[in-house]
Amino acid sequence: MGISLSLLERATVSEKLPASELALYRVMPQQELVERCWLAKRRLGQELLILGHHYQQDEVIQFADLRGDSYKLSSEAAKRAECRYIVFCGVHFMAETADILTPPEVVVILPDLAAGCSMADMADLDSVESCWEQLGELIDLNDILPITYINSSADLKAFCGKLGGLVCTSSNARAALAWGFARRSKILFFPDQHLGRNTARRMGISVEEMCVWDPELPFGGNEPAQLQRCRLILWKGHCSVHQMFKPQHVAWFRKQYPDIKILVHPECMMEVVDQADLVGSTEFIIKTIREAPPGSRWAIGTELHLVNRLKKEHPDKEIHFLSNMVCMCATMYRIDLPHLCWALENLVAGRIVNQIIVREPIRTWARLALERMLEIR
Ligand code: 13P
Ligand code: SF4
Repeated sequence: MGISLSLLERATVSEKLPASELALYRVMPQQELVERCWLAKRRLGQELLILGHHYQQDEVIQFADLRGDSYKLSSEAAKRAECRYIVFCGVHFMAETADILTPPEVVVILPDLAAGCSMADMADLDSVESCWEQLGELIDLNDILPITYINSSADLKAFCGKLGGLVCTSSNARAALAWGFARRSKILFFPDQHLGRNTARRMGISVEEMCVWDPELPFGGNEPAQLQRCRLILWKGHCSVHQMFKPQHVAWFRKQYPDIKILVHPECMMEVVDQADLVGSTEFIIKTIREAPPGSRWAIGTELHLVNRLKKEHPDKEIHFLSNMVCMCATMYRIDLPHLCWALENLVAGRIVNQIIVREPIRTWARLALERMLEIR
């Protein structure tokens, strides 16, 4: 029953200039980098679109034409057929998604190719195909639908597209699961177990109806009967940033400030989400704080740069970071001013660096899974 995607060549091709050139930017004073980025941006004019994820640091996000969460940035990229270059200040899977959703003539650039996502790396095509094959020994595969979180490589999106499944983000995971359960009795959800579990529980699915697939173990570490019984198979993946928020942090804030509201991202563990007042995607978190009454008190469980920005933008509200640890996305942080300036000035000089290209046929199948996602919302 094996599907042929594992035989395909690697999905993404990236081109890179010698690192020595980049070294010149690394030693430039910050003010010079800022001025040069603005100048390059002006020179490139309408040809350039800079997209920035909300977790990006302030010195970089100031250059973004559009800020958003993963959903907003992918839907905006899909509408921007007229620009020539998209410089993506986010992580690798986001740039891949932008490339898939834009016409082939639009060049997508990731200023630092090392800006990956540790969660996305927790599921690869070989392991997911092996899981699928093992499930096929126990269950009719026509009864299972694969759904991938957008935080995954293009070949996994293609895997879902080819098998009738789709992609979801943290802002439409519920709609994606509902879409899946309307078509098949079981869902294989990867790579984030927490988003899958938290979302399904809010839909009335109990933890007893779920099992976790550990790719290191035969049958994911489950008894065959367990896999045959459960409705939702969750890949054993997590976000290294959001897993740092613990139930004891929530308890501490509640004790300290009885009127505090706890607002968290659904990549946090179930024990944290269960104790929170509100749960939602990055965009939801921003909207909630924007609409909150002056004087209200919040503890937020998501990436540090975003929480610090919210604190600055809403001085009339009391905002706390829901951890005593520094929970920041270290890979997102790799997109810094030297890399951005280097990528922009190369474009001005007519050179494309760090282009992200998703090849056929992965592109077509992944696009199908992404289009299904964009349609359900
Ligand atoms: P959203 O942008 O969908 O809220 O997800 C957060 C995230 O972890 C990005 O990788
Ligand atoms: Fe990946 Fe977590 Fe960083 Fe998001 S915050 S890009 S899930 S590592």
